Amino acid sequence: MQPQESSAGSAAGDTLGRRLLAFAGSPLFRGDAQVLHDRNPYRRMLVPESLAEPDFDRPPGPGEWSSHRSLAAHRLLGTFYESETVLLPEQGLAGLYEDFSAFYGQELKDLREGSVSALERFAFACLDDAVDVTGAATPEVLDAFFQHMVAEAAAGPSPALAAVAAAGDRARAADLYLVQLALDGLTEASAMSRNLAGAYGPEQSALFKIFIDEFGYGVYDAKHTTIFAKMLRSRGMADHVHAYWNFYLAGPLATNNYYYYLSRDHAKFFRYAGAVTYAEAVFAPAFVEMVAVFRDIFGDAVDLHYCDEHAHIDEHHGRITREQVLLALAERHGPRVVPELLRGVAEARLIGGWFEADTAEQIRWSDTLPRHRELAGAATAAGPPRRSVRTPDDPFGTRCHDGAMVLEIERGEAELFTTPTGPPERMARGDALLIPAGRLYGVRAATPETAFLLHPVSPDRPAAPA
Ligand SMILES: [Fe+2]
Ligand SMILES: [Fe+2]
Repeated sequence: MQPQESSAGSAAGDTLGRRLLAFAGSPLFRGDAQVLHDRNPYRRMLVPESLAEPDFDRPPGPGEWSSHRSLAAHRLLGTFYESETVLLPEQGLAGLYEDFSAFYGQELKDLREGSVSALERFAFACLDDAVDVTGAATPEVLDAFFQHMVAEAAAGPSPALAAVAAAGDRARAADLYLVQLALDGLTEASAMSRNLAGAYGPEQSALFKIFIDEFGYGVYDAKHTTIFAKMLRSRGMADHVHAYWNFYLAGPLATNNYYYYLSRDHAKFFRYAGAVTYAEAVFAPAFVEMVAVFRDIFGDAVDLHYCDEHAHIDEHHGRITREQVLLALAERHGPRVVPELLRGVAEARLIGGWFEADTAEQIRWSDTLPRHRELAGAATAAGPPRRSVRTPDDPFGTRCHDGAMVLEIERGEAELFTTPTGPPERMARGDALLIPAGRLYGVRAATPETAFLLHPVSPDRPAAPA
């Protein structure tokens, strides 16, 4: 029995892995020499050469949300989901029609459709055991649980915003935080749109009311994505889908994908209702906190209309979703749906925590690179190094590793990118730096040929030297 089961599992994982490799092998996803992506929503670096590494038979566990295979899976899944939305570049399709055709074309569509369900199971299996909803059967229990979760979130502080406020380079840390919001901010409410069709009574109209607010009541200048782009421009940052693709972390990618995951499969509709209610309720206090932190750093030099709008409107949305969606669905459809509503609340809270923790860790790491040069010296090798050779024309991509690594420049010079704004970290021959497990980075050759080594080190997180 045992060997048969595991070999069947491997075959499934192998098939998924092969399909994903074929998808990522499209010229659209192989990247180019630039660190930020051009005004072309169809191109996004999926780092195909790193996709042979993950074991797609072994879903990331609850503590592995920032692992390499989690990042790889969520990049792919996010691309799958956005292929089911309409993305057109602001400047028009001149010169990009081929890419448009390939992105939405039959070949990639077949690969997506043949793997999306298995990839979702892989990417979100970690939620299955992480949430226990037994005993939740009445609207009263649901509401008490919901209120408790929201009060806890509102009490703050947000770990990611706390990391921004405590950073040595606060402006750069704030930019990295903005980038994590951009994933959703530039395509806001796209997942929600998938729950608007059908016929489900007053709750459908309540959700629609929220949806049209997100779309500025049909006024383009008031649409939340438009005012989000304005915030990016006020920081001198790119405002197109998805300039900062290479810098989206696994936690924020998973958060964004989660709402698509629930919206693609209406068996999970009640879970979606729980999740969106939680999200709308915690947004208002989160944006109040963000305004305080960003004003403290930038004064009036940053456009926070987006945050002010959400601090205001999401108080209203939080109320509508709780009363007219969450509790109304529980009353109308009875105890059988309550565990799913509750599961949505609990999962949204959990996954929102990954967003926060991942972003906070990346901010802290990229803010203390000199310290991580010192830590490299104190690390103990745990295996033979992997060697890479790069030229400045090679495609640029970012990745992370499941365990800590020491990056050592063997020949030439390199630029290390851990955050999308500000100068990269310059590293010369012999320089070494510790990359903690799960931290995102990209290396670009700064000399005609640069060779670097990646040494696996143990323990995962070496103690700071005395
Ligand atoms: Fe919004
Ligand atoms: Fe909202």
